[in-house]
Amino acid sequence: MGLRKILTDAEPALHKVCRPVEKFDRKLHKLLDDMKETLADANGVGLAAPQVGILRRVVVVDTGETVLELVNPSLVETDGEQVGAEGCLSVPGKYGLVKRPYYAKVRAQNRDGEWFEAEGEELIARCFCHELDHLDGIVYTEIMERFLTEEELCADEDGETSE
Ligand code: NI
Repeated sequence: MGLRKILTDAEPALHKVCRPVEKFDRKLHKLLDDMKETLADANGVGLAAPQVGILRRVVVVDTGETVLELVNPSLVETDGEQVGAEGCLSVPGKYGLVKRPYYAKVRAQNRDGEWFEAEGEELIARCFCHELDHLDGIVYTEIMERFLTEEELCADEDGETSE
């Protein structure tokens, strides 16, 4: 186990399309363990491998009940719409207004290569979309409506999360 350094969006790694995982080996398991530890340490909701400098399609998401490990994930279903505050561990201290589906279902492989599906609403759906965007080199600031102001953040303190 070990903490990895979280890169900011000034780093080129945050803007590259990541490659699929092909080997479900100890190196992948170590990456997933480190990403989960790094996410917990940063108090975030989700973390994508390019945020720690690894250009592979790997994501971890804390649903509040468990921490999902998503390898080679893709969106298979979305429904509805939500517009709300969104943050990113790679864009510290800022939040933007981003439109996302209200519901999202992803299909992914686990650390041993077995396929499964996971679904969620509200924050979880937002997080799935945010993290999968990272794997295609997209940071939320590129698709947001605008940054939230200090005044708006103070008025909505419990709505802030970082992914
Ligand atoms: Ni992020």
